[in-house]
Amino acid sequence: MNFKELAQRRYSVRSYQSTPVEKEKLIQVVEAALLAPSAVNFQPWKFVVVNDPILLAKLQSCYHREWFKSAPACIVAIGDHDKGWHRPTDGKDYTDIDVAIAIDHLMLAATEIGLGTCWICHFNAEKCADLFQLASNFEPIAMIPIGYPEFEAGPEKNRKSIDQSVYWNKFEE
Ligand SMILES: Cc1cc2nc3c(=O)[nH]c(=O)nc-3n(C[C@H](O)[C@H](O)[C@H](O)COP(=O)(O)O)c2cc1C
Repeated sequence: MNFKELAQRRYSVRSYQSTPVEKEKLIQVVEAALLAPSAVNFQPWKFVVVNDPILLAKLQSCYHREWFKSAPACIVAIGDHDKGWHRPTDGKDYTDIDVAIAIDHLMLAATEIGLGTCWICHFNAEKCADLFQLASNFEPIAMIPIGYPEFEAGPEKNRKSIDQSVYWNKFEE
């Protein structure tokens, strides 16, 4: 699979097989996340891999969707706002961006080895932070359910055209 095929194949998986994910595969996807670039190489991230059923059930109470319960594992991506680079000119915090890039690496690596993922942001972040007793500098940025997908392929991609999104030598709305 070349990169375009991999990017095309990844889709938001919202139905998983109950088959547990092998620990080596979970390590493999997290390792891919850790290879991501980050501002000043500060790497302001932590990943909590959850495959313990009791903890998974607690995590499910942070995002009430039936489909989420089908995932046999979930990775919580956490940003460390004390470690992230803040642009000196205006204080812009790059933590979220760094963590987002790492998550994308993780999701594509999962796709490559036949695993499905879905990026979840619409969860109760406060409840999730409490669950892991996070200090105030740590923010759960996303929950990423991971497992073998029920369906190998997703729906056809619905994306804006190149004409709608890309400009050459100018910008216009
Ligand atoms: C930042 C971000 C937040 C998202 N949050 C959710 C979410 O809370 N729940 C969900 O089901 N999907 C979520 N998604 C998945 C998007 O709906 C999905 O990526 C988009 O519709 C494109 O579909 P595809 O991933 O299958 O290509 C999120 C995706 C991103 C990038």
